[in-house]
Amino acid sequence: MNIINIIEKKRDKKLLNKNEIDFFIRGILDESIADYQTSSLLMAIFLNGLNDEETYYLTKAIIDNGEYVDFKGIDSAILDKHSTGGVGDKVSLILGPILASMGYKFLKMSGRSLGFTGGTLDKLESIPGFKVNQSDEWIKKTANDLGFFIISQSENIAKADKILYALRDVCASVDSIPLIASSILSKKFSFRNDSLVIDVKCGSGAFMENIDKARELCKTMLAISKAFQRKTTCIISSMNKPLGKRVGNNLEIIEVIDFLKGNYKDYDDLYDEINHIVYELILNIENVEYSFVKEKIKNVLDKGYAFEMFLKFVHNQGGDISYIEDINKFDKAKFETEILADACGYLSSYKLKDIAKTLNELGAGRLKKEDIIDYTVGLINEKNIGDKISKGDLLFTIRSNKELNSSQIKLLKDSIVYTDKSVKDKHILEVIK
Ligand code: URA
Repeated sequence: MNIINIIEKKRDKKLLNKNEIDFFIRGILDESIADYQTSSLLMAIFLNGLNDEETYYLTKAIIDNGEYVDFKGIDSAILDKHSTGGVGDKVSLILGPILASMGYKFLKMSGRSLGFTGGTLDKLESIPGFKVNQSDEWIKKTANDLGFFIISQSENIAKADKILYALRDVCASVDSIPLIASSILSKKFSFRNDSLVIDVKCGSGAFMENIDKARELCKTMLAISKAFQRKTTCIISSMNKPLGKRVGNNLEIIEVIDFLKGNYKDYDDLYDEINHIVYELILNIENVEYSFVKEKIKNVLDKGYAFEMFLKFVHNQGGDISYIEDINKFDKAKFETEILADACGYLSSYKLKDIAKTLNELGAGRLKKEDIIDYTVGLINEKNIGDKISKGDLLFTIRSNKELNSSQIKLLKDSIVYTDKSVKDKHILEVIK
């Protein structure tokens, strides 16, 4: 077997078999296949696709050539959730304490994200002392006792995906459904989980900008999940406005605290999403009604159990809980820049990638792996989709330690899309299983 024949086959729109895909993944790990050959094959896949069987073989080869975490010794069901990435997405940080306080195990191992979407690990690290790297001993103990952690996954999980993703990123082949599906699922299925919900974000602040592409990704991921005999549900949720009200690392932690303290009614989109994800996660392992689950969620929020669980979780991972008890302790950025509307009409969507790009330039995210994050940088949103906007209205406030320049201010003002009729956005667009 040789890699040139495999590239030729895909170039000529032929199907690859399991042995060829295994050969490819082993070759990129032992470096017998050069980066330029991997890039050619990725481009051939980008152009000519992979069918579900090929995508399954690719996912399986990545998993089998990396580390697998089986959470041995844990008898109860393990729930897990993945988001394809959005702006202001703090769902896992709210979901975990709710599920754990309802008695379910939520054991999440995350990777770090790059680009326009924020990373859960970075948000958590904005709490002084919080540790995302933990020993095997700690993982075992916490899985059994608290039943809830969010930690960094080992470098050896889905090792081949890291090489593939880095090359896709620089050779214009990120945006391919089978490559995205195998990338996501190889990481998710390198751990035991008994129920998985994948939140596929759709809209201006997401990889999937339209519903047809989001559906196609869900269909592929569900076919692959079935082949692995995993219980997976996909939720397509709208990403045309920042999720919740705040974007940025410590600002999102502050929002999570506010939500868990019982002010969840202030965050319609987040609350709706939490209710649906919790329900679908539980439905994969037991027969329940949506209204019953919703009531249980409301109960753990209203009684303060979810907030107490968040405190325990932060404490258990070394975080200073005095910050959670008193949010005024969090550092605050030097500048507050109000972005005012310079047009009028009804708000129809936000150009979220422009907003995220500006926040990243100001230090909220990483452009390169080595970049250092400024946890205090972010945005506080004042408007909702469908709102009537008059010239001069406050749209949102930017918090930063560098002053915004005029082109950044213009880009932010222009990031609002107006229409002449008020159209409300539906947040949960579809549930597919
Ligand atoms: N998220 C991933 O993990 N991989 C992709 O390819 C795209 C989004």
